[in-house]
Amino acid sequence: MSHKRVAILISGGGSNMVSLVDSMTGDHPARPCLVLSNDAQAVGLKKAADRGIPTAVVDHRPFKGDRAAFEAELLKPLEDTRPDIVCLAGFMRVLTGDFVSRFQGRMLNIHPSLLPKYKGLNTHSRAIEAGDAEHGCSVHEVTAALDDGPILGQAGVPIEAGDTAETLAARVLVWEHKLYPEVLRRFAEGDRSPVLLP
Ligand code: GRF
Repeated sequence: MSHKRVAILISGGGSNMVSLVDSMTGDHPARPCLVLSNDAQAVGLKKAADRGIPTAVVDHRPFKGDRAAFEAELLKPLEDTRPDIVCLAGFMRVLTGDFVSRFQGRMLNIHPSLLPKYKGLNTHSRAIEAGDAEHGCSVHEVTAALDDGPILGQAGVPIEAGDTAETLAARVLVWEHKLYPEVLRRFAEGDRSPVLLP
């Protein structure tokens, strides 16, 4: 059986990328083919290289906000590796509809909230400030609208008294590392029914 090829985009530590890469073994229908970052200093790049995964960097800064020019460069290593699935994992650049449309239906993202709540940034502090009892993470298909595509999985996490954004983020991250690999496996098997944890 030929495996589905999975490219993973990161911007920083890449803990979600590591969870995904480490899950793609044995009878898993997919294998990682590239880890791509917009930041040469991304610590995740070394973690990928240590695991023998090809890596590439396309620094967004020289493009000074010219999104189309940056994405034209970003597309090159991505198309060269011929991915079947693209996973955004802690990737902190907003992608245009043009870029997304090239991978529509096979690009996934993990977002640290129970979508549709708290799209965008600072999700943990927003949930705490709102007095929510629960927070969590979502994996969704990427569409042109930010943090808005069909939900492929969610994990709920209680907000505890005294939580700070940092303590809550740490609790959510543990579940991100469980959720994303389960969603990717199911997605790679052609099953888009949502994974709901715990
Ligand atoms: C995580 O909170 C994730 O939800 C968000 O980026 C943060 C860092 O992720 N997308 P990682 O450790 O770089 O995977």
